[in-house]
Amino acid sequence: MKRMVSGIKPTGELTLGNYLGAIQNFVRFQDDYELFLFVADLHALTTPQNKTVLRKRIKDVVAMYLACGLNPNKVTLFVQSEIPAHSQMSYLFESHSYVGELSRMTQYKDKIAKNTNDSMHVSLFTYPVLMAADILLYDADFVPVGDDQKQHVELTRTIAERFNHRHGDFFVVPEPIIPPLGARIMDLQEPTKKMSKSDISDKGFILLMDDLARTKNKIKSAVTDSDTVVRYDVKNKPGIANLLTIYALLSDSSIEALERKYASQSYQAFKSDLADVVEQTLAPIQAKYKEIITSPLVDQVLDEGLAKASDIAYKKVRKANQLLGLGRKR
Ligand code: AMP
Ligand code: TRP
Repeated sequence: MKRMVSGIKPTGELTLGNYLGAIQNFVRFQDDYELFLFVADLHALTTPQNKTVLRKRIKDVVAMYLACGLNPNKVTLFVQSEIPAHSQMSYLFESHSYVGELSRMTQYKDKIAKNTNDSMHVSLFTYPVLMAADILLYDADFVPVGDDQKQHVELTRTIAERFNHRHGDFFVVPEPIIPPLGARIMDLQEPTKKMSKSDISDKGFILLMDDLARTKNKIKSAVTDSDTVVRYDVKNKPGIANLLTIYALLSDSSIEALERKYASQSYQAFKSDLADVVEQTLAPIQAKYKEIITSPLVDQVLDEGLAKASDIAYKKVRKANQLLGLGRKR
């Protein structure tokens, strides 16, 4: 079985974007791949966190993954910071990556544009190197991510190839897997912007734990256009294209089938049906989440995941140290 690794930052509540761009795909992959998923809590530290909130979110994320259908008997789930090998490998990779490369990361450049260097943590700059460690420690073949993370996986490949070139074949060079549809679910109010939990207006995103009546209203008040045809045209009709994407992914139908179904119907009717589909998806997830978060399941799953993942990670970083001539052991 080929191996997949992916992580999710516990920095906010999960959105429908996270579900469609990431979680739903993990659920599909779990039958055909050996899947390692972790809560990237070290990555959360790039911006200041409240420790009580952070600790709660780490478990929340895992409970939500399980509620969305991940099967703990198939998937290895763990918390990044509980495995010191991630930080150790990241440090080794800092000597296998260049300042120029990291300066060209789009996410970093975007953050720089909003802040000044003086008030930005060094970890925000080195973040992609830690991500490379997360992936390469486990010899992942594939990394399923949203398209905002593609550049970081490319950098991971570069680091792996450089290390292999300098020290002999040691790391598997992984490939990103970007979903063909849903890699970028857009904001409901500003459909040219990615749906994100850090948005100021909460009408633009749907949280997996949102009150269902509110959720339906958010869909119904989503920004569309002054045309009247339900047609997939990202450039000229970004709002409708986004709603069609969400609808297709949640109902397992194609965009074309939906265009045909709503060819002679109003936007209002289309949105109303989509609001029902969203409700039907979220209601059982929310019920399951509430059950799981009050049970010992999350800790059990994370303890088992820790045992399995840390064994692999520890061996890999120890071997990397030896390859570099560190310490006394060969
Ligand atoms: P984040 O919440 O930013 O840590 O992202 C976790 C995962 O969800 C990553 O694979 C992201 O690429 C994906 N993701 C986040 N927001 C969206 C979105 N609006 N559309 C599609 N995927 C997303
Ligand atoms: N950087 C990713 C994000 O913000 C989360 C992440 C951390 C990750 N390490 C990873 C994703 C390794 C895939 C593989 O979404």
